[in-house]
Amino acid sequence: MAGPRVCVSDFELEARRVLPKAVYDYYRSGADEQSTLADNVDAFKRWYVVPRILRDVSTVDMSASVLGQRLSMPLCVAATAMQRMAHPEGETATARACRAVGTGMMLSSWATSNIEEVMSAMTSVGEGGVMWLQLYIYKDRELTLSLVRRAEEAGYKAIFLTVDTPYLGRRWDDMRNCFKLPPHLSMSNFSTASMAFSEESYGNDSGLAVYVAKAIDPTLCWDDITWLKQHTRLPVIVKGVLTGEDAVQAVNYGVDGILVSNHGARQLDGVPATLDVLEEVVQAVQGRCEVYMDGGVRRGTDVLKALALGAKAVFIGRPVLWGLACQGEQGVVELLDLLKEELRLAMALSGCRSVSEVSRSHVRRAEFNSRM
Ligand code: FNR
Ligand code: LAC
Repeated sequence: MAGPRVCVSDFELEARRVLPKAVYDYYRSGADEQSTLADNVDAFKRWYVVPRILRDVSTVDMSASVLGQRLSMPLCVAATAMQRMAHPEGETATARACRAVGTGMMLSSWATSNIEEVMSAMTSVGEGGVMWLQLYIYKDRELTLSLVRRAEEAGYKAIFLTVDTPYLGRRWDDMRNCFKLPPHLSMSNFSTASMAFSEESYGNDSGLAVYVAKAIDPTLCWDDITWLKQHTRLPVIVKGVLTGEDAVQAVNYGVDGILVSNHGARQLDGVPATLDVLEEVVQAVQGRCEVYMDGGVRRGTDVLKALALGAKAVFIGRPVLWGLACQGEQGVVELLDLLKEELRLAMALSGCRSVSEVSRSHVRRAEFNSRM
């Protein structure tokens, strides 16, 4: 028997063994030649941690807050679609795991468990955890707003509006595999086969790319933020910002938060790693809203580096899918606990006794280590 899982890559190796190839490929892939996919991870190596010594780190307070909600740590779960392909309990298992660990979960519009059942899973036991809804804007605006209303009624605390997907990126493996959902699953927030991604055939292409082209609104523009804000009392966070200029524009349109993200490098290949643009965004925003980041976070020191560069919290996508594939709810709890312990140690060893003590002076760019 293999020994215990000691790092995120151990989860991925095991997930790769247990998942069907087309599912693993869909979860793992980035767009085109996947240069940004590798860069998201590599970017963390371009920054050194600068530790401070002799600070009594016998207790480290890892608690954090996102839009006023208390979390046990500044690490949350990003929206990843169709989690029941990884484990039969899918998103409901992830929600229970987030509850157990006390962190936040962003549910994908394209979940294989619906908005209401995921919330009941989260609130079924114990205390802790926060749910947010990730929103795609459909050509059918009434359908879009119905998701928002359902999230409000169910007790979700914010809407993460994804703005980097007017069309789906080209993911070569999905195109070769003619990726679609297995027949027993559907995007269960929707009642018709055409919206639930459960038609019989999507032709000789990535089924998801065909679905997006048909259903998602590529006219999405800044005024739609105003439109969304008119229709909800929930905070709106824009997910997919990569420049200071767009961040300023987002603030001017009244967003409550910005998630620096390149969609896990699955949309436009060749864009910068998110860690490398985080500071530009933070500086442009000047504290007018909270800034978060995702992309390539695989270890506790990665979280520390992102916090030092100004993120209020960070999100992980793929690692959660690996946790689910390995062991469902328990796998996700184990994965989140592992990252939490890595972060606790990274904070302690760099002399940070709380998240607010992590500052810009705790990182330095490793100029001579760059690949350029
Ligand atoms: C995603 N992501 C995503 N984003 C979103 O807004 N809605 C979605 O439904 C999905 N679905 C999705 C599926 C899969 C399989 C992946 C890997 C990613 C992007 C996700 O929210 C997040 O931005 C990235 O996953 C972060 O990068 P890492 O942690 O995967 O490197
Ligand atoms: C993806 C979509 C679901 O990245 O956002 O596959």
